[in-house]
Amino acid sequence: MNHQGFRVVITGKGGVGKTTITSLLSHLFTARGYSVLAVDEDPQMNLPYAIGVTPKEGESIIPLSKNLDYVEEKTGARPYSGYGLMFSLNPDVSDVVERFGVKGPDGVNILVMGTVQKAATGCLCPENSLLDAVIRHINLREGEVILMDTQAGVEHFGRALAKGFNQAVLVADPTFNAIEVVKHSAILARELDIPDIHLVINRVRSPGDITKVNGMLAEYEDLFSGKHYIPYDEMMLLYDPDVRPLLEEESEFVDGVRELLISLEMHGLMRG
Ligand SMILES: Nc1ncnc2c1ncn2[C@@H]1O[C@H](COP(=O)(O)OP(=O)(O)OP(=O)(O)O)[C@@H](O)[C@H]1O
Ligand SMILES: [Mg+2]
Repeated sequence: MNHQGFRVVITGKGGVGKTTITSLLSHLFTARGYSVLAVDEDPQMNLPYAIGVTPKEGESIIPLSKNLDYVEEKTGARPYSGYGLMFSLNPDVSDVVERFGVKGPDGVNILVMGTVQKAATGCLCPENSLLDAVIRHINLREGEVILMDTQAGVEHFGRALAKGFNQAVLVADPTFNAIEVVKHSAILARELDIPDIHLVINRVRSPGDITKVNGMLAEYEDLFSGKHYIPYDEMMLLYDPDVRPLLEEESEFVDGVRELLISLEMHGLMRG
């Protein structure tokens, strides 16, 4: 069965905590017995290090886009006309990991998308759609989860949604600009019929922050399947970039992400 329930994209303004939350979710889902494919769509490639890949190991990661360049070199053809060149039409998560991914610590599977070279025409579309197609056609089985960390910005989110994600996590901190991005993303997600939109307000320092955010989002309440608040946590800086030590501590940050996981799991199972 192609299990649609657990294709989760994490988005939001720059620096709000997308990568940290994605990597914690990856570890928490894995610890719960899921097989996780964590996809890094940000050309900055921060996600592997947050999951706990060492800088040395990170050097040898070949992004998917580079692999496509390699296919072009070998075959003389840019494979966007037929990505069947690379693998079967509906690859399993394990195929994708084996051919293009890396095994991260604690069994988290990681796929780095990389940057797309601008074609002579100036259009990024065909290459982008190839990367999109790879993700969209991954055959998801029961017990498998795709979590995709994105580059900041609403356009990237739009493209991510085109890949068939059915749950979106919109992350903001309690600032006007971050909430504006959430509003735009929520409207876009709704227009594209994404069934479940989860709101995360990160870096909360006081009850006043929550009141402020709720005020700004008053007219958007109906768009969200759930709302989660994550406190500002001094410990974060201590362990940067690897999130794993946080899992060993009493951390309100981790508690907040755990709550988010339960919500994602519940909605994912409902969509089966
Ligand atoms: N609740 C929090 N309390 C304290 N620090 C936090 C919290 N959440 C995230 N941080 C810290 O903020 C920084 C940015 O987080 P992160 O890289 O996850 O954001 P991002 O949204 O992925 O950023 P970018 O848009 O650059 O990819 C990191 O150093 C992280 O440790
Ligand atoms: Mg990031």
